[in-house]
Amino acid sequence: MAIVCARKIANVGLIYVFCRPKSSLDRLILLLSIMGKNILITGGAGFIGSHVVRLMVTKYPGYQIFNLDALTYAGNLENLKDIENAPNYHFVKADILDAAALKNIFEQHHITDVIHLAAESHVDRSIVSPLDFVYTNVIGTVNLLNTAKDFWKQDLSYENAHDGTWDGKRDHLFYHISTDEVYGSLGKEGLFTETTSYDPNSPYSASKAASDHFVRAYGETYHLPIVVSNCSNNYGPNHFPEKLIPLFIHNIINKKALPVYGDGLYTRDWLYVIDHARAIDLIFHEGKKGDTYNIGGFNEWTNIDLVKLLCTQMDEKLGRAKGESESLITYVKDRPGHDRRYAIDATKLNKELGWSPSVTFEQGLAATIDWYLQNTAWLENVTSGAYQTYYNQMYTNR
Ligand code: NAD
Ligand code: DAU
Repeated sequence: MAIVCARKIANVGLIYVFCRPKSSLDRLILLLSIMGKNILITGGAGFIGSHVVRLMVTKYPGYQIFNLDALTYAGNLENLKDIENAPNYHFVKADILDAAALKNIFEQHHITDVIHLAAESHVDRSIVSPLDFVYTNVIGTVNLLNTAKDFWKQDLSYENAHDGTWDGKRDHLFYHISTDEVYGSLGKEGLFTETTSYDPNSPYSASKAASDHFVRAYGETYHLPIVVSNCSNNYGPNHFPEKLIPLFIHNIINKKALPVYGDGLYTRDWLYVIDHARAIDLIFHEGKKGDTYNIGGFNEWTNIDLVKLLCTQMDEKLGRAKGESESLITYVKDRPGHDRRYAIDATKLNKELGWSPSVTFEQGLAATIDWYLQNTAWLENVTSGAYQTYYNQMYTNR
């Protein structure tokens, strides 16, 4: 223990000399790094990332949280307005494709752990521009892995490389956030478990599968302490309105058509985003290093049933006649390579770490609708300009 503490203090001393903190804020951050964790959360300005950042910042005031985000169309600092002045929150605008910037961030802030969410995340966009997904999701992830491996190398037990233990690696963690889409599509029966074979069908899921493999490979080859979780469809506040639920909420508010792909009988397993953030917190702190955890809501809905529930709840909240929003449903041309059914078996996470969803779908959906109805400025802002161009490209004459 004394040796670990001495090494930590020596490391900080060395970093102090090399980084030469310029401002009193930099010095404070460095001093705090002796006492707690300096966690780099990538993609923290996005939908799920912003909920993870908020949870970590508010629940762990002793941790310094560095939110790294390139602020693509999906990133929005308005998502974190309520915590932007918290003393343990820091935003860094950077692209995970920029290896030099990553090195600089690790050195400057003495990063101890990574929670990696930054990604291109929209299946429909991946069908139009697959290379963007290869760059960010695959090459960006490998950049981040390389940076962590190089920066933490004195703490990784190379000498134990072949004994299968994780000794000496508890100071660090590279936590990769992934998706259930890597498992491909299910038939009518069955659930994805942690041992289901990978079988991705879209450029998005193929890029996420590749990134998962790289993370695992760095765990095996370099003994980087890693953990991976694969989650089902999220919904909730701050969801960018290109995805099913927020897009349909936006269209219902504006009495626009609700474009249901194909026959509408595709099935997804929906989880409230705050429950995903709770699961990430638990896995980050208590997950077994080197392991994989599936996260899901045990909450399967066909798209058409979900849309009908959404219409009913929205008619009630907007004071519209029953059935008014349902009349907006329009069946449109299907998504190519559309996976028929996803469903997660989250038993391992429940049994090993005691996690379960905290809200029912009806409660979570009602809270989500309320958030959009109360945050019209946020919705207006993200649906102006480039969003309209995207919308026309994807849906006009579909
Ligand atoms: P999102 O698209 O809302 O946010 C992605 C964030 O990453 C944005 O803030 C964006 O600016 C940032 N980003 C994109 N490219 C970047 C780059 N090159 N460098 C730095 N930042 C970059 O995504 P989300 O829905 O919040 O998903 C977050 C993660 O969770 C992703 O890895 C996704 O694969 C995974 N996931 C999402 C879901 C879901 O239902 N949304 C489910 C399971 C897993
Ligand atoms: O399963 C986890 C994945 O869930 C995440 O990894 C992805 O990042 C996330 O985007 C989500 O992917 P999906 O493709 O399932 O989500 P999306 O909201 O795009 O679509 C949900 C379902 O609704 C899907 O069957 C397609 C359908 N859909 C979607 C849109 C945008 C429609 O019918 N009409 C639409 O306009």
